[in-house]
Amino acid sequence: MNSDRKTLIVGNWKMHLNVHQSSLLVHRLNERVKVHRDVEVVLAPSMLAMQPLSLEIDHRKFRLCAQDAYPKDEGGYTGEVSFAMLGDIVRYCIVGHSARRIYFNETLETIRDKVQAAVRNGISPIICIGETKQERDAGESRQVIHDQLTTALMNITSRELDSIVLVYEPTWAISTFDGIIAKPDDVQKAIAYMRMQVRELYGEKAAERIYVLYGGSVNEHDVRSYLNIPGVDGALIGAASLNYHQFAAIVDAAYRLRLEV
Ligand code: PGA
Repeated sequence: MNSDRKTLIVGNWKMHLNVHQSSLLVHRLNERVKVHRDVEVVLAPSMLAMQPLSLEIDHRKFRLCAQDAYPKDEGGYTGEVSFAMLGDIVRYCIVGHSARRIYFNETLETIRDKVQAAVRNGISPIICIGETKQERDAGESRQVIHDQLTTALMNITSRELDSIVLVYEPTWAISTFDGIIAKPDDVQKAIAYMRMQVRELYGEKAAERIYVLYGGSVNEHDVRSYLNIPGVDGALIGAASLNYHQFAAIVDAAYRLRLEV
């Protein structure tokens, strides 16, 4: 964890919670989360809850994040919502989550276009990068990380890089309730490799500056061990972000760590 910038804690609610339940969760979190100078708390609700929540949240405590959007700004794309439409409402958008890559067949090129569309519309893309279990078992992790990262950033200039957030999310460690989690050592190596790729593309300073988070079954008990990994600037939380006790405890752990550094 780097002491001269914020720790980012992102809650990805996925396809859970209707509008009412989303409001209730924000209400409960609001009672427990303080305004932290060094910790930025980001909530990624469903698209449906985005507009009401944007009017309800305390913007000093929370930032909103979309879970996905369409790369064209407008047109006959039935069923889609564009980054352009979200520009006034969200600060961030998750791009290339493994669920999108796997269930919706998103290609490297689609993700590249989404990253570009996000930046064009003033939204910071939170780009998820990580290998599947098969790829890991086949010893292809580095190649996969390399390919996903370099294509995602293909049209991004050094100046635009400041608005990018990367996440290492090994698919095999996401939403595992049977204890398969990534070891801090492995996370450290993967994240160092990601920064090395950024260094090769944009130089040393950019590699140090870019935010890199970890995601994959992080909970209130192990969040400290992930945030303590050198090079990790925060966490992307799925399941545990739906429970206000757990999510508030995660935010609190991040805050305590910041007080210690
Ligand atoms: P998880 O999800 O914390 O439930 O593993 C992380 C994510 O998919 O963003």
